[in-house]
Amino acid sequence: MRTQVAIIGSGPAGLLLGQLLHRQGVDTVILDRASPDYILGRIRAGVIEQGFADLMAEAGVADRLAAEGERHDTVEISVDGVYHPIRLAELTGGKHVTVYGQTEITRDLLAARAAAGLPGFYGAENVTPHDMATDHPYVTFQKDGLNYRIDCDYIAGCDGSHGICRMHIPKHRIHEYERIYPFGWLGLLSNTPPVNHELIYAKHDRGFALCSKRSEMLSRYYLQIPLTDRVEDWSDARFWDELKRRIPEDAADRLVTGPALEKSIAPLRSFVSEPLQYGRMFLVGDAGHIVPPTGAKGLNLAASDVNTLYRILTKVYREGRHDLTARYSEIALRRVWNGVRFSWWMTDMLHHFVRDSIEDKIRDSELSFFLSSPERRRIIAEQYVGLPYEAVE
Ligand code: APR
Ligand code: PHB
Repeated sequence: MRTQVAIIGSGPAGLLLGQLLHRQGVDTVILDRASPDYILGRIRAGVIEQGFADLMAEAGVADRLAAEGERHDTVEISVDGVYHPIRLAELTGGKHVTVYGQTEITRDLLAARAAAGLPGFYGAENVTPHDMATDHPYVTFQKDGLNYRIDCDYIAGCDGSHGICRMHIPKHRIHEYERIYPFGWLGLLSNTPPVNHELIYAKHDRGFALCSKRSEMLSRYYLQIPLTDRVEDWSDARFWDELKRRIPEDAADRLVTGPALEKSIAPLRSFVSEPLQYGRMFLVGDAGHIVPPTGAKGLNLAASDVNTLYRILTKVYREGRHDLTARYSEIALRRVWNGVRFSWWMTDMLHHFVRDSIEDKIRDSELSFFLSSPERRRIIAEQYVGLPYEAVE
């Protein structure tokens, strides 16, 4: 079998890339070891930057996002129970974010791919990229006991943080940067009305908390917890009690609690692998970088990588601009490092690390400094709504 771009991984990155390339007449095949149902079962953040929403529109898959996504012009930061609204639209000349679950993004993209009849293999085993450093790369895999080989021009490694594409780059050709945070986030999803229209990022002496939402009847909350805690340590009642203590009083008073549909612990990590390419294979999204969830940049950085690679490959196939492929990593990484820095900074300012340490006092001071004037809040707002995408020329 032959295609122009073999895409490994059918998460939002792989699917969006496939859809955009399809609209430009470029052939793709998508391979994933999981099933579509499994992929749709993952619960992840859903704060969409304008650039990402525009890209979904360019891919022709933004109808439901436009109709059901919720526009947010403000994000709340609370410090020890006191609100400090960051008025995104006011501070950035009208920019905003859209709250629309990643699961829904993925659902829309899977449906569009199926409707267009584009090829995909789910439940693919032992997916392996080969000969990426030559002009004739290919991918092999097994499915239902049969062996497959897909010859291609390029391989897009969109296989997430546990993917294999990165592992196939020789160690001496790649540098990995990493920071592990000394706490985790305990997330709870419940069929309850969200406590607040706007998201609340709450800094508190007892630790960070986040009030988020998926829809008018589906809430998502998080608590900073020690890494030594296990989910079993946290009954629903204990979770709700702790959340109430960390958020502003009026929010605590109107919080509607209910049984957890899902409860899980996520570790926090900043990770970047440089460069994001090896020969004819490109790393896209979580396959090349991870950010802690504070600021909701993970999915948005995946979209910005897709934007860069899609524009490069379109120029390669339409204008013969083969010179551009060598620049993917350099262009994509500039924006990635901005997102990594912002997520790091937000995580630092909003969490407690070591009680009564000088570092925690500096973090408190840093946050109050940035909340103390519109000019300083604008710095937060501009990054929260997303920096512009870099042109590919
Ligand atoms: N072979 C084939 N497919 C694989 C393999 C493998 N060895 N390893 C992983 N995959 C598939 C996974 O099953 C998954 O469907 O790759 C896909 C990767 O998807 P995501 O993990 O969703 O990653 P990505 O598309 O980059 O999405 C961006 O950023 O911060 C996050 O929450 C955000 O999940 C979102 C992500
Ligand atoms: C979420 O809704 O899961 C969410 C929202 C914002 C974040 C992180 C997670 O910064």
